[in-house]
Amino acid sequence: MRRLKGRPVGPPEISGTGNLLQDSVTRESRRWLVREFSLFLNRTVKRPLISDFEVGQVVVAFALIRNLSTRIRKSGEEYLTLELQDRSGTIEARIWDVEEPMRELQPGDYVKVKGRLDEYRGALQLIVERIRKTTEADRQQGFDESNCVISTRYDIDSMWRQLGALVDREVTDRFMRPLLANILKRTEERFKYYPAAQEIHHGYRGGFLEHVLSVTENCVYFAGKYPEVEKDLLIAGGILHDIGKLEELTPAPAIEYTVAGRLVGHIILGRDLVRAEAGAIAGFPEEKLLLLEHMILSHQGDYDWGSPKRPKILEALILHYLDDLDAKANHLQGVLQSHRGSGPFTGYDRILGRVLYRRRHSSAPSEPPAADGASKASNSPSPPEKSGTG
Ligand SMILES: [Fe+2]
Ligand SMILES: [Fe+2]
Repeated sequence: MRRLKGRPVGPPEISGTGNLLQDSVTRESRRWLVREFSLFLNRTVKRPLISDFEVGQVVVAFALIRNLSTRIRKSGEEYLTLELQDRSGTIEARIWDVEEPMRELQPGDYVKVKGRLDEYRGALQLIVERIRKTTEADRQQGFDESNCVISTRYDIDSMWRQLGALVDREVTDRFMRPLLANILKRTEERFKYYPAAQEIHHGYRGGFLEHVLSVTENCVYFAGKYPEVEKDLLIAGGILHDIGKLEELTPAPAIEYTVAGRLVGHIILGRDLVRAEAGAIAGFPEEKLLLLEHMILSHQGDYDWGSPKRPKILEALILHYLDDLDAKANHLQGVLQSHRGSGPFTGYDRILGRVLYRRRHSSAPSEPPAADGASKASNSPSPPEKSGTG
């Protein structure tokens, strides 16, 4: 029998005199069989995913706490509001009867939760009956952290190749090329896997790359649309406008702000990073750097939106609108996807300031995977390749 650290692995040996049930199976063997069978059952139990939840169901599921806050009812009693997440999406949850251990829960905790699905203002909501942090033993029941991580629907390596090919194909400036190449090389691991935001848009693994590639492909298109545009500057702005987010946020699944993110913010962090990298390239023209800094400093468009500067050149104005467009389009798609209320309208969305309408038949991304590089027309933005995992 195979042994591990001196302990037997597998069923205890069965000795017998002929009658298997009465004589041969020792008590220990029977216990082993029962334990193995129940583990097998637990492993094969199909846990419902959040995207499958429906009003009226009682569910038991594993999830990640994405957000949590304590609120006070009119009666003065505390209750907890949570946002729970698994790989299929997120759901709002409420704990009305707060027991002592529940007060220790915090964002980033993996939990086993039992609750009833209700509908509130057109949105699905989980009313929690029981909740606790997961333990190692839960792995036998199918718990796995990777099942709680939301990822981009596109293939990350393919998007990365497309971004590199875009720089090779479109950027000719002898200072911008090494600047972009150096930054992409230095930040590759974070660039590929970080989210673009905590929750408003592209707030999932690979979201940063998805957002940057999308904005930059649109930059290529608009550089062709407006002949006055300095193409290399607009493309560099597209690739670098949010580069400070790689220092502002922590990676998925529990996306948090870093200390530098809270105290300085991605706009200034990004500008500092670009200045440092440009400073390492001999002879980098002063005005070229100044304009690139302006692209980063003004990309959020207005003071009210946290932008220290407003766009003062055409390239910066275009970048601002393309960034805003991509963020809002992604946010809208996310809200519609996670809407599982019974009516066609979502609940009120505070980011867009309105409810949204879900068509009965929405169109899925239909573009076939784009070939990297040369075969693509330079002014044709295309969606990144869809990931094999969906
Ligand atoms: Fe930004
Ligand atoms: Fe952005």
